Amino acid sequence: MDKFKINGPSKIRGEVSISGSKNAALPILAATLLFDKNVTIKNLPRVKDIDTMLNLLKSLGRKITFKNNKKIATISKGKKNNFFAPYSLVKTMRAGILVLGPLLAKNKKAKVSSPGGCSIGVRPIDIHLKAISKLGVKIQIKKGYVNAIAQEGLVGSEIRFSKISVGATENLILAACLANGTTTIKNCAIEPEIKDLTNFLKAAGAKIKWIGKRTLKIEGVKTLKNITYSIMNDRIEAGTFCVAACLNGGNLKIKNFEPKIINTEINLLKKIGAKIKTTKNTIQINGPKKIRSLDFLKTGEYPNFPTDLQAQIMVLLTKANGKSIIEENIFENRFMHVPELKRLGAKINIKGNKAIIEGTDNLEGAELMSSDLRASVALVLAAFISRGTSIINRVYHLDRGYEKIENKLKKIGVNIKRISK
Ligand code: UD1
Repeated sequence: MDKFKINGPSKIRGEVSISGSKNAALPILAATLLFDKNVTIKNLPRVKDIDTMLNLLKSLGRKITFKNNKKIATISKGKKNNFFAPYSLVKTMRAGILVLGPLLAKNKKAKVSSPGGCSIGVRPIDIHLKAISKLGVKIQIKKGYVNAIAQEGLVGSEIRFSKISVGATENLILAACLANGTTTIKNCAIEPEIKDLTNFLKAAGAKIKWIGKRTLKIEGVKTLKNITYSIMNDRIEAGTFCVAACLNGGNLKIKNFEPKIINTEINLLKKIGAKIKTTKNTIQINGPKKIRSLDFLKTGEYPNFPTDLQAQIMVLLTKANGKSIIEENIFENRFMHVPELKRLGAKINIKGNKAIIEGTDNLEGAELMSSDLRASVALVLAAFISRGTSIINRVYHLDRGYEKIENKLKKIGVNIKRISK
């Protein structure tokens, strides 16, 4: 298992270019199951979760050819048309459940492994299944598998999500765009990755319309036409680098990213003292000399502050001039980075879904353990502002979602080395 060795403290300087978005690419790759024609997807990030989704597509009978170091993939229909998504592929990546909607739309049946638990919380799929069953689907869960069948094919319906869910919104969009008739979906997630998915499907001829802030109307079409589409860039990676630049009074130009997508995050970083200038697709960020604490920050659905940046912003607040409070509202077990940050000397107390952080300047390197994707990048940030050497174990979590992070960090001044055994 690979580890990172980091010697701190470092200060960030230079330029970094943002990669394609993992969370936008995953549903768009699942959507390619809806096509009879070829689809070319550009700007794929080279991360583990994307490999897993591509392997899942292959196991479902798709043919895939690559260009440009696997950043461009052309996906076409093979001879076989499978409808079985095995546990071995879905267990490592929850987004595997996103093939359920398209498989039903194309084959009227699907057998997809339930993704099971996850270190950041229970993460059930009840909202996905309840909504999909409203499209005329009979669902049975047996031996860890979702067995779904739509005898007459999918039929449009009116659905209101009881809770906002990114994945369930995506799954339903994927199911509804080839369904018979019109589907109205209320209380949708409106994350930028969902807009990327609807833009992609619309470009291929799907009839999808946002008719309210969180309401979608989808008129089913018979087929989708072949297209080439470039995935949006990763807002969580961009946010992570913005935080990194603020940690030690750094100075960073972030290229290849539209700042307006992360307005909430940029305003927050200005509040803690960062100086930020933006153009249409760059962010110039100068970290503050002294980080100001935040009275209260809560995570929420877009356009609120993302849970996927909670761990990173917590690292920043461990150095602030006073007490800050973060409330986690999306996942019930997303403070697993806290005991690790405490090993470096951070002063954090957990009370229910709140973390109370007391700023300190005395972080010292230690040996740490990654627990999940975003927690592990937070440990990298914390390690490079700590004095001395840190070892971060289990960086495979990080490899699931960040493209060559150590190379990008090295170029902007972080002393980081991957140790592979
Ligand atoms: C997606 C993102 C993930 C991000 C999360 C929240 C991808 C691949 N992953 O995950 O990085 O942290 O959105 O922005 O895009 N829930 C249920 N039942 C369901 C579905 C969800 O109770 O059927 C709960 C979850 O446990 C969680 C909340 O709803 O507490 C939100 O989850 P959801 O928006 O569905 O997250 P994901 O799509 O899994």
